Amino acid sequence: MSEPALELIDIRCVFSAKDDASARYTAVADTTLRVAAGEFVSIVGPTGCGKSTLLNVAAGLLEPSSGSVKVFGQALTGINRRAGYMFQSDALMPWRSALANVMAGLEYRGMPDEEARGLAQQWLARVGLSDFGDRYPHQLSGGMRKRCALAQVLALDPDIILMDEPFSALDVQTRQLMENEVLDLWAGGSSRPVGSDGRESSGRKAVVFITHDLDEAIAMSDRVVVLSAGPATHPIGEFSIDLPRPRDVAEVRVLPRFVELHTQIWNVLRDEVLKGYSQQLRRAA
Ligand SMILES: Nc1ncnc2c1ncn2[C@@H]1O[C@H](COP(=O)(O)OP(=O)(O)OP(=O)(O)O)[C@@H](O)[C@H]1O
Ligand SMILES: [Mg+2]
Repeated sequence: MSEPALELIDIRCVFSAKDDASARYTAVADTTLRVAAGEFVSIVGPTGCGKSTLLNVAAGLLEPSSGSVKVFGQALTGINRRAGYMFQSDALMPWRSALANVMAGLEYRGMPDEEARGLAQQWLARVGLSDFGDRYPHQLSGGMRKRCALAQVLALDPDIILMDEPFSALDVQTRQLMENEVLDLWAGGSSRPVGSDGRESSGRKAVVFITHDLDEAIAMSDRVVVLSAGPATHPIGEFSIDLPRPRDVAEVRVLPRFVELHTQIWNVLRDEVLKGYSQQLRRAA
């Protein structure tokens, strides 16, 4: 069997409080997660449980307190260069146009300006923004900004895509459109741009998709991993999503198998969500 695209092995993340270094909070503990090449995995869990923390570990932005990360079998040290990261918040540079935002990562990689421009234009077209390349982020709608961020990540042709609640701020209709587009891009449409070196973009990417939304997780994924409420968050359930593909995220929700999976997963998630919620209330008090 080929190496997993991403392995988080026995991860533990302990944070110390800003004002009191002796006060420590174990956000994540005993977490092992493997994602195969080309696999679409969603991680669901209550708010504040440690989802973004885990994704930061996978991206190489946060070093775990213990445990290790492997990327295609190699130990990860520093930034994960095989991964593209779509952040929870808008991460476009406000002083750059949409086109310049998509070009930025390519330029950092040393791609000549004209080549970067051409590839960025192709990706903007692929996400439906070909006429908006000269707009600045504040001149784009929330959905358009997300499309631009998606083009920014995909232009780099990463083998692993890390997405942290990318569409949670969008209205339901726009969100469903974006979800379908992500599935379509992931499945590899024939109209994908050719990579910078002239080769067809490589096959399916491994995706780690963080969401609060169980419907979204089931509709999109091959596998859903449920995390416990914190502290010491860890996986408490794992479900293979055997719904046929290609999927339309709106249509798939009415299938009896979808409803069955939803009931099974919600049975595991419900108590954690309640725990997470009451913890937040206690912390706020
Ligand atoms: N740099 C940090 N320093 C101290 N505590 C942190 C740090 N980063 C995260 N935490 C704490 O770790 C826990 C997990 O945070 P994280 O952002 O990973 O949660 P999350 O599951 O992504 O939440 P949400 O669903 O609200 O986005 C929280 O209690 C948070 O306060
Ligand atoms: Mg988060």
